[in-house]
Amino acid sequence: MERLAVIGGTGLEQMEGLKQIERHTLETPFGSPSSDLIEMGDGQRSILFLSRHGEDHAIPPHKVNYRANIWALKEMGVKQVVAVAAIGGITKAMLPGQVSIPNQIIDYTWGREHTFFDGPQVEHIDFSWPYCEALRTQLLQAASATGVNAVDGGTYGATQGPRLESAAEISRMEQDGCDIVGMTGMPEAGLARELELCYACCAVSANWAAGKSEGEITMEEITENLKSGMAQVKEIINAL
Ligand code: HPA
Repeated sequence: MERLAVIGGTGLEQMEGLKQIERHTLETPFGSPSSDLIEMGDGQRSILFLSRHGEDHAIPPHKVNYRANIWALKEMGVKQVVAVAAIGGITKAMLPGQVSIPNQIIDYTWGREHTFFDGPQVEHIDFSWPYCEALRTQLLQAASATGVNAVDGGTYGATQGPRLESAAEISRMEQDGCDIVGMTGMPEAGLARELELCYACCAVSANWAAGKSEGEITMEEITENLKSGMAQVKEIINAL
């Protein structure tokens, strides 16, 4: 069996339902991961769970130590990584509460430690298809087995945060071809590819992106939509 890890995002800081087997506290050449790696399971199967923003949600998107997180997973023998992410919906299928499994990325982030190949080792990895197609298929099959309606594909635009975007920024991203917007998709996906991990994203729409609905985006609406969306994500992960 390929060892599976789940990186939990906003709304999935902890993974209830599965029994905790062991906590692994790791140090990496790049510093500490966002949280302990928690081995969880039901006696037959186990996963490793890492909380991207920390278990008490104290690490903002631009301060996440993405290199330490991905390195730690690799060190633990992980082969497959499901990255759970809260996003804003840009195109019409991505309504609040909707789960999607994106297949493309555009990176708008800046100033983040985004590579393991910082010299003297120089490598240029292929990133034409940034997500692992085999794991995307498994996620979609798990969704359909549990009756969760998940959109197959879409382009994830990764922004710097922590502020939300302006309506004009979202309009430009839509013209670029983005379907969803989030703050943590990069450099995480690129780093996973550099270490040859099979990485896919399970995105949950928390809100309509800026300018796509009337009024302001509130934390209350985000929290509310994530509650239902993350419940579906847990079902998908269980089925996986
Ligand atoms: N923009 C960026 N990241 C997000 C959003 C958003 O609207 N919603 C949840 N994460």
